[in-house]
Amino acid sequence: MPMEIDELAPLGDRYRDVLLSLYDGEPQRGADGRLHAIDGTTRVSLAEGMTLHSLCVTNRVTSLLEVGLAYGFSTVFLLAALERIGGGTHTAIDPFQMTDWHGIGVTHANGLTAHSATLTSRSFIWIEDRSDRALVDLERAGRTCGLVFIDGYHRFDDVLVDFTLAARLCGSGGLIVLHDMWLDSIKAVASFVRRDRPDFAEVATACKNLFVVRRVGEDERDWSHFVDFPLR
Ligand SMILES: C[S@@+](CC[C@H](N)C(=O)[O-])C[C@H]1O[C@@H](n2cnc3c(N)ncnc32)[C@H](O)[C@@H]1O
Repeated sequence: MPMEIDELAPLGDRYRDVLLSLYDGEPQRGADGRLHAIDGTTRVSLAEGMTLHSLCVTNRVTSLLEVGLAYGFSTVFLLAALERIGGGTHTAIDPFQMTDWHGIGVTHANGLTAHSATLTSRSFIWIEDRSDRALVDLERAGRTCGLVFIDGYHRFDDVLVDFTLAARLCGSGGLIVLHDMWLDSIKAVASFVRRDRPDFAEVATACKNLFVVRRVGEDERDWSHFVDFPLR
């Protein structure tokens, strides 16, 4: 894959090597130390991953959060951004990391931070819980985030809840990214955000499968605010 190797070069050798192995579909090491076969669909594409990476690097975002870890494709792109920026933290929420994904995402993240010049074992945190509970806990703990990537359970109501709770963690200029705009459920959430969240403005990217918004103001809607929105 010479073109992909070129595209991944800015990430550095260690991150590129992990991603090439993942995209090649090679068996991956789990938390039990054994190799496990992986499916070829649970992942961000290379272009989506590079867009996430560039959003972090360009905006120098050092506090990252992700809903949905799985094999860790997106996590590797995000950790590589922190490495390039010179440090930061990435928190990944996933209740099924050990049961459904053999701990492969966590194993990659811990391996990459363990051999990093700029990141430490505290640069990556995995929360083994559902996003609706974990995001509320993070808000209670006073956590703020510069970028939240939402790629967990993809039903309309779950993603709308993820967005609503993630928005409370996002300060001025903070970014929220939704994955899988090919799904009607995600299109409907994006449509709601466009019409009903004037505190967020859409950010254009080359990836049609990502929906990216930036916080541009406070949530000043009154108690009965509602603007009708198209479902797609
Ligand atoms: C499409 S995968 C994420 C892929 C990952 N972003 C990547 O690029 O490699 C969806 C993930 O969401 C997780 N998930 C499902 N329900 C969830 C929930 N309620 N809260 C957080 N994560 C959830 C699944 O276990 C799975 O790991």
